[in-house]
Amino acid sequence: MNTLATAPPSQASQTLKISRARSPIQATVEVPGDKSISHRAVMLGAIAEGVTRIRNFLPANDCLATLDVVRGLGVQIEYTQNEVLVYGGGMHGLKEPVRPLECGGSGTTMRLMAGLLAGMNKPSALSVANGEAGAFYSVLAGNAQLSRRPMDRVTTPLREMGATILGRQDGRFAPLSILGGHLKSITYRLPVASAQVKSAVLLAGQFAEGVTTVEEPAPSRDHTERMLLAMGADLSVQGNMIQVRPSHLRAIDIRVPGDISSAAFMLAAALLVPGSRVTVPNVGVNPGRTGILEALDRMGADVRLRDQRLDNGEPVAGIEVSYRPLRGITITAEEVPGMIDELPLLAMLATQAEGVTEVRGAAELRVKETDRITTTAQELGRMGARIEAMPDGFRVEGPTRLTGAEVSSHGDHRLAMSLAIAALAADGETTIHDTACIADSFPDFERALRSIVTRPSISLK
Ligand code: S3P
Repeated sequence: MNTLATAPPSQASQTLKISRARSPIQATVEVPGDKSISHRAVMLGAIAEGVTRIRNFLPANDCLATLDVVRGLGVQIEYTQNEVLVYGGGMHGLKEPVRPLECGGSGTTMRLMAGLLAGMNKPSALSVANGEAGAFYSVLAGNAQLSRRPMDRVTTPLREMGATILGRQDGRFAPLSILGGHLKSITYRLPVASAQVKSAVLLAGQFAEGVTTVEEPAPSRDHTERMLLAMGADLSVQGNMIQVRPSHLRAIDIRVPGDISSAAFMLAAALLVPGSRVTVPNVGVNPGRTGILEALDRMGADVRLRDQRLDNGEPVAGIEVSYRPLRGITITAEEVPGMIDELPLLAMLATQAEGVTEVRGAAELRVKETDRITTTAQELGRMGARIEAMPDGFRVEGPTRLTGAEVSSHGDHRLAMSLAIAALAADGETTIHDTACIADSFPDFERALRSIVTRPSISLK
């Protein structure tokens, strides 16, 4: 029997059963395209002039939602076998949508699109000719999970720029109705280091009169800035300050690198069984995303980057992680943005590390797909972890011998995958419920995990 078993096909996406990996894991495994870059390639392609070709696009629910939203704005998109062609109509090529734009559970789709739509003008001569009047009107809607997540972080600066935005509880929650156009530039200091908010303001700044300035309290992933520059935008970066003015974007060819946030799950597996090594080739190593590698290195893991290069302005490398006994570390507020999505996984690894691991300054985790401080502590706790939730992070004491248990993802893809990897270190069998959400970011996760654990060198249950 495999270490990884699934429920019958009809429920295959709902429940995963995984048992302990007893032999070293020695594997090279590819991971699918980067989620953040896939979103941005479609959105920027939509307002660029010409055809943007996106290779290795991530076919996950979140990015498919972005494709649908952009199609709803009248943009022609061809999608075949991981390659997407976006027929951009330039800065004023989007058409006013006739139906709500459904973002599913994707926060990146809703927040970045809010910025783009806030900037939309109806070129007046054309609107009059079409018998249309008024401002460009659009509605962004999401599923129940997304509708509980805060949107005032984008509606506040976008309103300051001149957009009219309505939403539940005075624009705090979706659905959002946006009347765009005639924006003025602002200088905005982000209250939290958030790449989504930064990107929303920069995208709106593409359409605002004058120079829009964004200042970040700490550096977050800069995929938007890099892609805008690759498309010819008038953008400059000085330390934590980014400035943009309206300009025409030109379509480019984009090869999306592997997603480091997905790679992290595979790499973490190498740290659970002595003698293991996992290599993931072609991974995006944007400096705003590599916090997990630095943390693993500090915990004592052997982490190496191979074949480093730049692709469309994004750093890319192969990542190799070999087993070493881990020790506990402290993660401070400044380090959090660089590994925000990997913190549930780090909590899991900390259960296997000698000593205490403490993560502080990570209150943002409470407004992700779930309240990840509560859900991570609760579910790892069921497996025997000594983990204490704090208002802005958690404290884990290790090492603990984890035991197989019935756990739930609470509909959170990153928690589902963290629990799946934890199961490789847990005695007996772990049943993870509610795993369909894995397709939000890593639809091929189960196959990738099978490819690293189902080997002759692994003791199979
Ligand atoms: C993302 C930014 C991060 C991250 C999310 C994707 C992006 O969110 O958690 O998964 O693509 O810009 P915040 O900007 O809210 O930190």
